[in-house]
Amino acid sequence: MDKLWAGRTTGTTANLVDEINSSIAVDRRLYKRDIAGSIAHAKMLAKQGIIPESDAELIIQGLEGIEADITSGALEIDPSAEDIHMFVEKVLTDRIGDAGKMLHTARSRNDQVALDTKLYCIEETDIINDLLRELLKVLADKAEQTLDVIMPGYTHLQHAQPVSFAQHLMAYAMMVERDMSRLSDCKKRMLERSPIGACALAGTTFDIDREYEASLLGFNGISMNSMDAVSDRDHFVELMSALAIIMIHSSRLSEEIVMWASSEFGFVQLPDEYTTGSSIMPQKKNPDVAELCRGKTGRVYGNLMSLLTVLKGLPLAYNKDIQEDKEPLFDSVETVKLCIEAFIEMVDVMEVNRENMYESAKQGYVNATDLADYLVVKGMAFRDAYNIAGQTVSYCVGRGCALEELPLEEFKQFSTLIDEDVYQRLALHTCVEKRNSAGGTSSSSVMKQIEYIRKLLEQ
Ligand code: ARG
Repeated sequence: MDKLWAGRTTGTTANLVDEINSSIAVDRRLYKRDIAGSIAHAKMLAKQGIIPESDAELIIQGLEGIEADITSGALEIDPSAEDIHMFVEKVLTDRIGDAGKMLHTARSRNDQVALDTKLYCIEETDIINDLLRELLKVLADKAEQTLDVIMPGYTHLQHAQPVSFAQHLMAYAMMVERDMSRLSDCKKRMLERSPIGACALAGTTFDIDREYEASLLGFNGISMNSMDAVSDRDHFVELMSALAIIMIHSSRLSEEIVMWASSEFGFVQLPDEYTTGSSIMPQKKNPDVAELCRGKTGRVYGNLMSLLTVLKGLPLAYNKDIQEDKEPLFDSVETVKLCIEAFIEMVDVMEVNRENMYESAKQGYVNATDLADYLVVKGMAFRDAYNIAGQTVSYCVGRGCALEELPLEEFKQFSTLIDEDVYQRLALHTCVEKRNSAGGTSSSSVMKQIEYIRKLLEQ
């Protein structure tokens, strides 16, 4: 293949070199950003009198035509081109002639790719944030529908205290809120610094206006050092870390859905459209969507590690190693979007088995802390109350009954402070509603969380 960069060389490369050098299969998806960047560049060059206004117009029209044709399918991206930057420039020159050859004045693919990928990160951050907003809405709605659904709350996966299913869901809503705020932080930093104009590594001899070009592309400012600008991929790392954290959260909810959908739990049921069958066991209804979201966490973590490793120890400024940054980034972005979309639907359609949750919550003495709290209200110090409640639980275990099933005379063996009102106090509903501290599981506290999230969604 003949190369646009056949400067001092013949530009004829071995096939294997073409193969390892090529990034078109990956960076082809940047064509819109590449063209947007080039249009801004042409405008800046013309404004500064570096290229004639009439040539800039030709370039811009040419680029707009290329974008439209790629989008409509009329122009196919040549898989044998080295990368998207070379492809667009070559098609432009084929189409408009010599004016096309002026576009790369005061620019290098090094700052060009830094720009294109930054634009990609900014746009995708917005798209992911919008998806997370939808997920937040679905979580809040589902929570409101399940405010009075009582389930066992767990620590160490052992029954701990009763909670509402809504409180459990809203815990995930708070994770999503942090995910969104992390993405916004990344985006803010990305918007601060446009790399374009750094050129190959050292800036340019032409009188360019970097601020102007940056502002055309929506940036608030420019990177201050050209060598840093072409080699900086911190925003990739930040975004991919934020995506990895999203996957931590989504894998946790996935795991819970997988457990809840099992016969052992029977807490939720997924409609047929959200499950798959087995090729041999006709009775199966598998929660594959949740399992896959859990499993895909691996590649999102792996992508982050791969990028960190590519960047480690790289001398300044641009090195071709950096070309390896895009595949993991794109994969993480696509994977995370798919998983969030799956969750939006899955949470929405998930059917909650309130009876099963309630029956389960009645097991495991989840109201033992409430017995202690009850004694504290009657005047006992908490540590003493804790011991009495512990002894009572142990007695009930031997007797084979729940705390609330123990006759009053037997209760009184443990403390004379215990009265008829203990039964009302130990009812699971009371245990949940009494936990009315800020952030607690009472329905009014959960409702406050829901309102907080809904307010956030209005912004
Ligand atoms: N395809 C390259 C990349 O993705 C573009 C920059 C190439 N720069 C160079 N000096 N060869 O990183």
